[in-house]
Amino acid sequence: MKKQEIRIGLIGFGAMGKTHTYAVQNLPLFISDLPFTAKITGVCTRTLEKSQRIADAFRFPIATDCEDELIRNPDIDVIDICTPNICHYETALKALAAGKHLYCEKPLCDNAADALALAERARSSGRICTTVFNNRHLAAVMRTKQLIDEGRIGRILHFDFAYLHNSCTDPDKAAGWKQDATVCGKGGVLFDLGSHILDLAVFLCGKFRTIQGKGQIAFPTRRGLDGNPWQTDAPEAFYMMVETAAGAHGMLTASKLTTGVNDDLNFAIYGERGALRFSLMDPNFLEFYDATTPAAPIGGERGFTRIECVGRYPEPAGAFPSPKAASGWLRGHLMSMYHFLDAVYTGKQKAPDFTDGAYVQHLMDLAMRSDADGTAKAVEL
Ligand SMILES: NC(=O)c1ccc[n+]([C@@H]2O[C@H](COP(=O)([O-])OP(=O)(O)OC[C@H]3O[C@@H](n4cnc5c(N)ncnc54)[C@H](O)[C@@H]3O)[C@@H](O)[C@H]2O)c1
Repeated sequence: MKKQEIRIGLIGFGAMGKTHTYAVQNLPLFISDLPFTAKITGVCTRTLEKSQRIADAFRFPIATDCEDELIRNPDIDVIDICTPNICHYETALKALAAGKHLYCEKPLCDNAADALALAERARSSGRICTTVFNNRHLAAVMRTKQLIDEGRIGRILHFDFAYLHNSCTDPDKAAGWKQDATVCGKGGVLFDLGSHILDLAVFLCGKFRTIQGKGQIAFPTRRGLDGNPWQTDAPEAFYMMVETAAGAHGMLTASKLTTGVNDDLNFAIYGERGALRFSLMDPNFLEFYDATTPAAPIGGERGFTRIECVGRYPEPAGAFPSPKAASGWLRGHLMSMYHFLDAVYTGKQKAPDFTDGAYVQHLMDLAMRSDADGTAKAVEL
């Protein structure tokens, strides 16, 4: 029997357009007996010439510089949004109106009102709508969630999440769109890196009761992309202090001012019975401390254990290249794409959906309001 084919229109082809292309094109290798096929039917970028070059290189049938051409095409089932943040809302609204499923990069929008409205539309549309919080799909993060849900660290008391880049540490480096509030949104690094750790913190530690935020601009002037002096208008680092509805307290740091790091997403979660630690730069292992094991004699066998999550994804994903093969960031994106397409195939929405994306946007909105007036904000959703 012919397998169902899921046809994707890809909008934007920078780092994430390429990452999603890698995921779609390699799915059949990594997922055993995939019950559907998926292909990118068309690509849209800002120039026809660039789109055509990409379409030729990756064998996409349609190249366009007009996203409506993909959105209106009846032979396309899914719109995949890989454009800068301020573009997401309008594209998503049009695609939902045209009956498409949506795979939308984070942050869902550039403000909470739009994100909440979009999530509402998504819920009533019956379409499958995913916010790309790919880090949920790292093997070690999946194991973290299992251990927390099994009660292995008990009641969570305290947590620290950080997503650190060094991309704003050089004052001579020209600002890109992720430092430009008119393209990234006013949250700057909060939207870019903060959205990832807020989602992970909520996913692993629970919804928040309060949030307090503080932004930082260390280099108020630098060069713009055109070489002219440019005024930094969005935070380069953002710090948050939160309390969950269950009473745990946490600190979150999203920063591009951290010298000496690469793509450092780290977390530590401390509970009554144990603790968990993870670093994206060491993504194959999860550190687990079991405080219920005897500490005697001389420490017994107590201490952080490095759990070898490696490539041990549950079926149907673990076989290739091997359960013992190292895996990392790209594999998380591939698994994120798989879960989205599987939801399209089965018709059953999976998390993280647009409601999850809108919740994170709401938290970011509150954090920015807190930064503006210096007071902690209650989280009502
Ligand atoms: N989930 C993740 O791991 C992750 C990582 C990086 C970025 N992102 C998100 O992905 C999105 C894209 O980021 P990126 O790093 O790929 O950016 P990028 O700058 O590398 O690429 C953006 C692309 O969109 C194109 N573009 C801009 N405006 C457009 C428009 N109106 N129509 C069509 N194309 C347009 C640009 O030409 C470029 O090709 C952002 O929302 C970002 O927050 C997610």
